[in-house]
This record gives sequence, structure tokens and C-alpha cells, in this order.
Amino acid sequence: MPLRRPLLAGNWKMHKTIPEARDFAVNFLEKVENVTDIDMVICAPFTVLSVLKEELEESIIHIGAQNMYYETKGAFTGEISPLMLQDMACTCVIIGHSERREYFKEDDELIAKKIKAALEMSLTPILCVGENLAFREDGKALAFVRGQVEKDLMELSPSELQKVVIAYEPIWAIGTGKTASAQDAQEMCSAIRSTLSGIAGSVAQQIRILYGGSVKSGNIAELMAQPDIDGALVGGASLEVQEFAQLIQNAR
Ligand code: PGA
Repeated sequence: MPLRRPLLAGNWKMHKTIPEARDFAVNFLEKVENVTDIDMVICAPFTVLSVLKEELEESIIHIGAQNMYYETKGAFTGEISPLMLQDMACTCVIIGHSERREYFKEDDELIAKKIKAALEMSLTPILCVGENLAFREDGKALAFVRGQVEKDLMELSPSELQKVVIAYEPIWAIGTGKTASAQDAQEMCSAIRSTLSGIAGSVAQQIRILYGGSVKSGNIAELMAQPDIDGALVGGASLEVQEFAQLIQNAR
């Protein structure tokens, strides 16, 4: 059993209707049924989670959401709680994706609360961090991402931290076709791991760190070969059965 089991997570973002999601789930499962050495999760819009539950709950593919609120219930119009995600057989939830930080003004304080709430409900949070192009060009990327990791995870005990997954997603690489080089991605993931060591000591060696940003079947192998990259968070390339299944095979 490796120390950190590889994880490939699809992030469908705001894509797929109910029939499309069902079709994907059935066909994708057929193609990856033999994969036992990698954890796979599809993070889908709330409206298709029940379909994924029907098709995938008993399978090796995990179901995830892309956001949640930190309270379990109450007067929070339009929000979805961790309890509701449990209901949908979710085991994971993406927290703090750069699109949520940018378009929906989520800040580190809110994100830290969501991480804590997810863990309390036994959901694995996939915390997204990453710098924009200006920070990268100014040579401030490492400091910026370290700061995000510290602010978002500071409140957690080492045993809680161990259950968190971190996705390093440089904003300039998301949906642009521009992947960070495997070396740059490794450098940042290693810096994230050393930041985690500062918070939680040796537990940092057990925390999974993913890379995200224009990952596809053609570049996954090189990324996975890096010592501190334990998998990927995949947007565009997770929308098509053939491509995502190929990506998973190439990651092995
Ligand atoms: P992308 O998105 O793979 O389409 O670049 C990744 C993400 O935003 O999680």
C-alpha cells in the first residue's frame, strides 16, 4: 500500500444535464472498472448528484460536489449543506476553487470554515489553492500559495489535516491549455508539503496534493511522475468519457 494513494478527480463545473450525466456515468464506469490502484471521483453539479448516486454509489467511483455551505441546516437561501451532500452519497467536496474565490467572492475565512465543516461530516475536502499570472510573473507565487494554505488550514489538528486533499491550480493554467511545466508544478507541490510540515509535522507526508490546470491524457503521466504530485483535478478533460478514461489509464 503506497503512503499516498493516487487520486484523480473530475470537476465538471457547470456542465451536464441529467441525461448527459447518466450517460457519462454508465459508459465511464464500463471503461474504468478494472482500475483498482487509483481513487477516482467525479465532482458534479448538485442537480445531477442523485443520478450519480443511482449509477455509481455501489461502484469504485466516488461522488463529489463542487461547493457547500458550512452549516448543516438553517435559513441560508440557495445553499447546500454537508448533510445534504451525505444524502447524495458524496464522499468528497471541492472547497475554495479559484472560480468561487473570484466570481463568488469566497475568502480564506469562509473557506477555512467550510473545510472544517466538511471534515466534521466525514466528507473529504479538496482544497484548491493557486496564484494568478501577476503573482507568478512577479515571483510571488510561492509566498502567495503558502499563505493560502496556512490561512485555510490553520485551525485543523494533524489528524484532521491528514484527511484533507489539496489541489494546486495556478489560475493562469485553468481552462487555458497552458499547463504549468511538470517541474514548476512539482516545485509548488513540494513547497505546499513543506508548509504542511510546518503546521502538522510528519503528517504532511501522508497528505495528498493534486495538480490542476489543463491536465489531459497527454500530460498526466509526466505530472504523476513527480514525487510530490499525487494526482490531478481535471476540468475540461473530465467531460468526455473517452478522454477521461484514457487520462486515468495514462496516469497508472
Ligand atoms: P481545466 O480546469 O482542467 O479545464 O483547466 C481545472 C479546474 O479548474 O479544476
